[in-house]
Amino acid sequence: MVKINKENSLPLNIAHRGASSLSPENTFAAFDTALISGAKGLEFDVQLSKDIIPVIIHDESLERTTNGTGPVKELTLRELKTLDAGSWFAPNYKGTSIPTLEEVFKKYQNRLTLFNIELKNHLIEYPGLEEAVLEQIDRYQLEKRVIISSFNAASLVTCRRIKPAVRTGLIYLEEIKDPWLYIRSLGCYSAHPHFIYLQDPKILAGFKLHNIPLYPWTVNDPGQMEYLVSKKVAGIITDYPQELHRITGQAD
Ligand code: G3P
Ligand code: MG
Repeated sequence: MVKINKENSLPLNIAHRGASSLSPENTFAAFDTALISGAKGLEFDVQLSKDIIPVIIHDESLERTTNGTGPVKELTLRELKTLDAGSWFAPNYKGTSIPTLEEVFKKYQNRLTLFNIELKNHLIEYPGLEEAVLEQIDRYQLEKRVIISSFNAASLVTCRRIKPAVRTGLIYLEEIKDPWLYIRSLGCYSAHPHFIYLQDPKILAGFKLHNIPLYPWTVNDPGQMEYLVSKKVAGIITDYPQELHRITGQAD
């Protein structure tokens, strides 16, 4: 299988929810801006509509980033598509809609090195989410350019059971003892720790020894970006892809 990022190369510049410092997160505006800003990968969050269509939105409920109310899972795609997912960020984004996973694949399938698809099923259950996402990956033949990540370890195991070749990555926000052992036991390809867990050289050495690529988040501080570039992590997930691009030059 093709390695997503070559050894000794710079970390992949991955825009967190798109270029979410510049445009409304998890929308085409944020994804387009990310590409213009130098990102080569996108991280985005997937929930399910009532009619089991994977849609790109971070929160389980609609209030923060749309003019809708209530849980995402209680509206059909048709209903979700009537909502405005841009005005909360700035008035000129009025009319921006919630994208589907399929629309994102269709639009960016030839323009990205990596789709980091985060399954947002750690707070609520979404029966059928894994199947629906894997079906789209198959349809667009993007298996070699995706990592499915989640805080939900069981869901990552389910993905690998359905499709053993798919790459999965565990996201974590609390300390795990010997995280490489746990991550390997889940069959994961990569680790997606909060960046604070990569400050300890012993942790970095453990991951290196076990040959587990690192994709820390959400790295917005330029000093942290420089530190993680020097540690040769596989990818950096940031709200500021433009800043990471400036730090790494044109070569990332
Ligand atoms: O993929 C890592 C990161 O996105 C996890 O946190 O809440 O921003 O989705 P969150
Ligand atoms: Mg996320």
